[in-house]
Amino acid sequence: MDLNQMRDSMKMLLKESRYRHSIGVEEVAHDLAIIYEYDTTKACIAGILHDCARNIADEELLKECERYHLPVSDIESSCAFLLHGKVGATYAQQKYGVEDEEVIDAIIYHTTGRPAMTLLEKIIFTADYIEPYRKPLPRIDEIRSTAYIELDKAVYMILENTLMYLKNTGAVIDMLTVETLEYYAKVLQKN
Ligand SMILES: [Fe+2]
Ligand SMILES: [Fe+2]
Repeated sequence: MDLNQMRDSMKMLLKESRYRHSIGVEEVAHDLAIIYEYDTTKACIAGILHDCARNIADEELLKECERYHLPVSDIESSCAFLLHGKVGATYAQQKYGVEDEEVIDAIIYHTTGRPAMTLLEKIIFTADYIEPYRKPLPRIDEIRSTAYIELDKAVYMILENTLMYLKNTGAVIDMLTVETLEYYAKVLQKN
C-alpha cells in the first residue's frame, strides 16, 4: 500500500479529529526526518499509521492481542488503551504491508516510549505530541521549538509533561515511561 492509500484508509477508519491528528503527526514527522537526516518516506508511513488501532474499543484490543498472540502486561490489561500501539503495529504489518522493523517499533512505542529509542521512534514520539492540531498543552511552544534543535531534550520534556499529567489525573502509569524518563535524564546529563 502506498502513502496515499494509507491516508485514505485512515480517513475512512478514524473519526475526523483523529484523522487530522494523524495527518499532523505525518507532517511533523516528515519535517523532523529532514532535520535529523532520516528517510522521510518511512517517517511519513509511521506517522500516518501510528494511531491506526486508536479507534478500537478496549475489549476489542484485548481480543486482538489474543488473536495475534501479543503479550499483555498487567498495566496494559487494566488500561487497554495502551495496547493501540502494539495492535496498530500488527495491523501495519498485516493490513498495510509494512515490513520495516523501524517503522513497526516506532508504532509500538509511540505511547510509552522506551529507553534508547531509535531515531524514528523519537521522531514519532515527539511528532505525536507537538503536531499542530493538538489542544494546547503546558510548555508546548518551548517543546516545539526544542524538537527542531535538540530532539533528546524534547523527548525528555514530553516525558516529564506526560508523567505529570498522568499523576495529576490519577491515571495508570506504565513503568516503561518512567524508565524512559530516567534514561533520557541521563542522556541529557552526559551532553
Ligand atoms: Fe496513539
Ligand atoms: Fe497519536
